[in-house]
Amino acid sequence: MKETIQMREPISWMEYPAWLEAFQQPLPENLAAPGEIAAFEAESFAGENRKNSPSFCFVPDETLGESYILERDDPGKITVRGGEQGILYGTYEALFDLICEKPLPEGIQTPAYSLRMLDSWDNPDGTIERGYAGRSLWFEGGCFSYDPVRIRQLGRMLASTGINVLCINNVNVDASARSLIGDLLPETAGFARLLRPFGIRLMISVDFSSPMAIDNVNPDAGRRALRTADPLDEEVSMWWKNCAARVYEAIPDLAGFLVKADSEHRPGPNTYGRSHAQGANMLAAALAPYGGKLVWRAFVYNCMQDWRDTGTDRPCAAYDLYKPLDGQFADNVILQVKNGPYDFQVREPVSPLLLGMQKTNLAAELQLTQEYTGHQIDLFVMPPLWREFFDRMGKEKISAVAAVSNLGRDENWTGHPFAACNLFAFGQYAWNPNRNPEEVIRRWIRLSGYRKAEEKLTAVLLQSSRIYEKYTAPLGLCWMVNPGEHYGPSPWGYEFQAWGTYNRADRNAVGIDRTASGTGLLKQYPPELALQYEDPSVCPDEYLLFFHRLPYSFLMRDGRTLIQRIYDDHFEGYNEVLRMQQTLSELDLPERDRLAVEERMQMQIHNAREWRDVINTFFHRLSGVPDQYGRKIYN
Ligand code: GCU
Repeated sequence: MKETIQMREPISWMEYPAWLEAFQQPLPENLAAPGEIAAFEAESFAGENRKNSPSFCFVPDETLGESYILERDDPGKITVRGGEQGILYGTYEALFDLICEKPLPEGIQTPAYSLRMLDSWDNPDGTIERGYAGRSLWFEGGCFSYDPVRIRQLGRMLASTGINVLCINNVNVDASARSLIGDLLPETAGFARLLRPFGIRLMISVDFSSPMAIDNVNPDAGRRALRTADPLDEEVSMWWKNCAARVYEAIPDLAGFLVKADSEHRPGPNTYGRSHAQGANMLAAALAPYGGKLVWRAFVYNCMQDWRDTGTDRPCAAYDLYKPLDGQFADNVILQVKNGPYDFQVREPVSPLLLGMQKTNLAAELQLTQEYTGHQIDLFVMPPLWREFFDRMGKEKISAVAAVSNLGRDENWTGHPFAACNLFAFGQYAWNPNRNPEEVIRRWIRLSGYRKAEEKLTAVLLQSSRIYEKYTAPLGLCWMVNPGEHYGPSPWGYEFQAWGTYNRADRNAVGIDRTASGTGLLKQYPPELALQYEDPSVCPDEYLLFFHRLPYSFLMRDGRTLIQRIYDDHFEGYNEVLRMQQTLSELDLPERDRLAVEERMQMQIHNAREWRDVINTFFHRLSGVPDQYGRKIYN
């Protein structure tokens, strides 16, 4: 292990093209539509020392919309058929395939989900909630503040991987963010204009109580705020209708509004005794005339729980609330559900709400920003988990996907240079959730200019999430992190808090019984899954402690006791981090990335050691069971 870490010289973001390594030509300002961008990308690609690269022929067919067809009848020419947006997507696909030396896909290519949204948690003051790559790319000091060249580059990145909507502000909408649909609307519209040529539409997070905080947006009514935000109040729904009219006049292609209501102290319809369907439908009605969507988050639970109360179980909350409302939501409402029933923990089963709502439009929400998965310091590359998620959920269950962004103003966009793989891969999975994780990772590596390191880097990235899981929270046991910041171990940090986040470890056993005889979470699952998870002897290891309370002496399928498995995972996880560091240090990476990776690996090693020793000591002190191999556990 190296003793010292070399400091890096500051480098401009322009030297970090992320996965657009082969697209070094800056985008001219005057490109006003997807077709123009497609033509520019194809021409400059051919122009840049690639003598044998084929010419492109574009055949617009508006019936194809975002879809496209690629044809290569003669080796020197690629024909891209599609709607204008489809032509842009098809052009990126063809160029990426050329760079990666892959065949063009055959037949019509259509995205699995029409809404493929990146949710930023950016605040107008420039901070990013749970952001680990610097400050906001477009906000500072309470208003918009950005480099248009960089925002266009962002549009290029997002479009190239198939993302078509950007939610520009945090779901926790503060006072200044309320102005995005009020006084700041002209600036919001200006920002939308910059991204429009890339086929990226804006979404805005709004505060349910806005009518009580922003002056009436109907000029005839004079400027005054309302005294209620009750969704069944005529004045309130008129307020939102006026608001939508004004917003759509400024941004005609706005994708819609995103709402976090009655969650973690945010206002919502419950204040007025109204249901979430009533709240969402009222807002949806305001957006409907413009084709706007109302995305309503299902992340709702009691965040004021008494830890003594063992009857309330947070992962049950969303299903209990929303399942009875199935069928009551308007057509343009999308219920956005986090991938697991808790909250972006390292490992969670699919949310039963995603499996159980039959008559409601659903979006799955993933988290790219590494809140619980290492803060973009530790390596955690997500495609293997997403593939598993889409396989277990069934891709037709949902109609949209969203992911919380991992971007920021850091010159390399994502803090850890390899965290960009998660952003790229999200777009790829949003387009086609059947992709093979290894292929997605390899594609990203080739496009990012790491080809010389391809074999070993692929192996490291593929394993990285599994390794992180081993040295942090074992077997689906959640909330072992430091409260608040969510980095580093603190096995009882959340144990006596109000957030519904408990492991209930004692000297004999650990975990929560969520079977039918326990809190009943399993009753929310389809019978075939419930049956599998109900029985600890067949429940997949990675969910064992998510669904069961088990004694330390419980015999795992591989013959080890539960406690021995916990010790083993933590010792092995740490050792695997050391090996990962060794492998990465030997790779032929560009200098700028090599130093950044090394710097972060040293921090990851420190973190993994902390996790290993704190968790092992915790369980050893409680259980009194020694490690079978006599490895060092601190007492
Ligand atoms: C987590 C996260 C919060 C965030 C919330 C949400 O609880 O820690 O910062 O606001 O999720 O998704 O709304």
